[in-house]
Amino acid sequence: MPSGVPHHCTCVVGLQWGDEAKGKIVDLLTEQHDIVVRYNGGANAGHTVVWSGKKFKLSLLPTGVLRPTLQSVIGNGVVVYPERFLEEVQTLREAGISVGDNLIVSHHAHVIFPYHQEEERISEGSSHAIGTTGRGIGPCYQDKVGRRFGVRVGELLHPAHLRDRLKHILPRKNAMLQALAPQAKTFELDAVCKQYLEYGERMRPHIADTSRLLHDAVARGKRLLFEAAQGSLLDVDHGTYPYVTSSNSTAAGIWSGSGVPARHLERVVGVIKAYSTRVGNGPFPTELNDGAHGIGERIRQAGREFGTVTGRPRRCGWFDAVASRYTVALNSVDELALMLLDVLSVLDEVRICTAYELDGERLEHFPSDAFLLQRCQPVYETLPGWKHDIGGARRLADLPAGARRYVDRLSELLGRPVSIISVGPDRDQTIVC
Ligand code: GDP
Ligand code: IMO
Ligand code: MG
Repeated sequence: MPSGVPHHCTCVVGLQWGDEAKGKIVDLLTEQHDIVVRYNGGANAGHTVVWSGKKFKLSLLPTGVLRPTLQSVIGNGVVVYPERFLEEVQTLREAGISVGDNLIVSHHAHVIFPYHQEEERISEGSSHAIGTTGRGIGPCYQDKVGRRFGVRVGELLHPAHLRDRLKHILPRKNAMLQALAPQAKTFELDAVCKQYLEYGERMRPHIADTSRLLHDAVARGKRLLFEAAQGSLLDVDHGTYPYVTSSNSTAAGIWSGSGVPARHLERVVGVIKAYSTRVGNGPFPTELNDGAHGIGERIRQAGREFGTVTGRPRRCGWFDAVASRYTVALNSVDELALMLLDVLSVLDEVRICTAYELDGERLEHFPSDAFLLQRCQPVYETLPGWKHDIGGARRLADLPAGARRYVDRLSELLGRPVSIISVGPDRDQTIVC
């Protein structure tokens, strides 16, 4: 792997709208680390790892669980749907991967309840839909910040206390849901209480004070790998608001979402796809809406661009260097991992967006407000394609000149070195530069 210098704390962060293939990079870097930490989002993420053709999909659990010798941590900044947590643990065990006390979840992570999903179903039915994953992520974070209705994982271990909390919460949630939609589902105290206490018991061996554990680990010189979910353009503060997720999906989320101060971070790996994709609604200046036989569809088919979580076709378009320059700066990226380069091999020529035009003026910076961004027109630079299967390339010298030129140009435009190039989903389809 790149750089011989030992790094204690590394972050792998997506620089676009998610699905940049962070899972593959986290998996590659686990070898150099002792602990893998998820700090934001929840089961809205879908990270795929492929080893010798065998595919693993992780949604709520950190990618580190695939290596049971590592400690995997779900930090306080994550929102946890217990049913999904238990299902994922079960699926891994069935695949022969042992999951025990190597997986821990923060007692301060917030819990997703079925009323969160119902609330989201109703709000997404309106004309202002965000196009969410429907996992109850937004409503759960709303309750966390609102403070009155949020329930944390640690509370599931205290029956009388949990019942007392839900006795207060459920009638108010039911009234709110019915006011929003008369046919909304409502929820009954005994049933919800019983189910969540049972979840709590089953999760008990995994629940801990993860901030303390991570502080001890840092003090003992353990190497931490932070795995961001979503992409930086979906960050609630810095992304294309309001078409974002409800957490800080940039490296900024690490401090609040794990308790580990940002000053410990020594290496930030920014993950980019060789083109752009987006799932759900919101502006996407370089989107290719060029029909069933157009380039957008060819990229979608070649890259198998269908959502891991929802199966939705991902919107596809050219690489946007304006957007990625912004997210390189936001995350203080040290190096780039360039993914899915093989997908572009099907094209005669490739384009990169290097600036926007807004109201007749040239823009070099990224206006992240959705209402402004949706009026921006991309300005492109065109490069020749390489029309060569690169899936077997293992060294930079194995790449055709056109592909190398594309890599160099992206690196130049973003002002950072490309340290890893991925030419296929499998772990060994990787070039370390
Ligand atoms: P994540 O959410 O950022 O972890 O990314 P996803 O797993 O949702 O999406 C990336 C997809 O691309 C997965 O299906 C990966 O197996 C696949 N993938 C990863 N790297 C490559 C690559 O270099 N080439 C191709 N063709 N597929 C890749
Ligand atoms: P990974 O970790 C791509 C998108 C949704 C929607 C918006 C809000 O696999 O990269 P939410 O359910 O979070 O409230 O949805 O964010 N979204 C993702 N898009 N990859 C993801 O995760 C995503 N997680 C959420 O499609 O547009
Ligand atoms: Mg994904």
